[in-house]
Amino acid sequence: MATVRLDQKQRALIRAIPDSYHSALANFFGSGPKDIELARKQHSDYKNTLEDAGISVVMLDADENHPDCLFVEDQAVIIDGRVLLPVPGHPSRVNEQPPISNFLVTEMGGAQVCRMSGDARMDGGDILRLGDLFFVGRSTRTNDLGIEELRDLLSHLGHELRVIDIPEHALHLTSIASTPTDEVILAPEGYLPKDAFGELPEGSRVIWMPEEETYGCNTIGLPGGKVLVAKGYPTVEKTLIELGLDIITLDFSEIRAADGSLTCCSLFY
Ligand code: GLY
Repeated sequence: MATVRLDQKQRALIRAIPDSYHSALANFFGSGPKDIELARKQHSDYKNTLEDAGISVVMLDADENHPDCLFVEDQAVIIDGRVLLPVPGHPSRVNEQPPISNFLVTEMGGAQVCRMSGDARMDGGDILRLGDLFFVGRSTRTNDLGIEELRDLLSHLGHELRVIDIPEHALHLTSIASTPTDEVILAPEGYLPKDAFGELPEGSRVIWMPEEETYGCNTIGLPGGKVLVAKGYPTVEKTLIELGLDIITLDFSEIRAADGSLTCCSLFY
């Protein structure tokens, strides 16, 4: 869950995969998608799984001019009913945003919407929420000006923001960490110092996973004790089961091929 608490997850926006998906950016987990039909099947399973968990899901049309358009998480930051529209950190992704912002403005009628401007840059994938505490990755996609705009919004809402430097071998903060519950951060060894998240609220903790299961650290906690996890990460699965969670595994290989993780493909609003 990137920017919403578990109890705020009722509706999700996703976006269809374009035929141009084979040209999506791929520099970290993947070397580029090869099988678009398989990617579409995995994406459809994702949609069905969210719906089976009681989430109402809307899918926007694909945009052939934007191979990465399915990664909607990067295009809007939704916090407590407010929307921050970032300037995405990769130039090829900036114009993915208008249909997403138009949809959110219509669906969240009356919501306060702020637009980032100037040299501020941010991908929504750099934001992580643990209860009411927020973390932002300073990455190749998110810069200090973007972080200050997010800080302004969070200060207004009374939430704390902590900045984490993302190493060069990772794309986003959520590529290497997630919050399967409002009290647990899952993160891999080998990317961040052990004190990266700082002192956490009482009852909360970071659980460190083996480096080879980095991709599996991106999970989506859902209401009712369920959690979505990518297939193929046994330590992550075992850890989540020991937390008493009901795991749902999805094969996401062709989404991973374009550096996409589970959270990248949805925006909860
Ligand atoms: N392929 C996802 C991204 O690089 O933004």
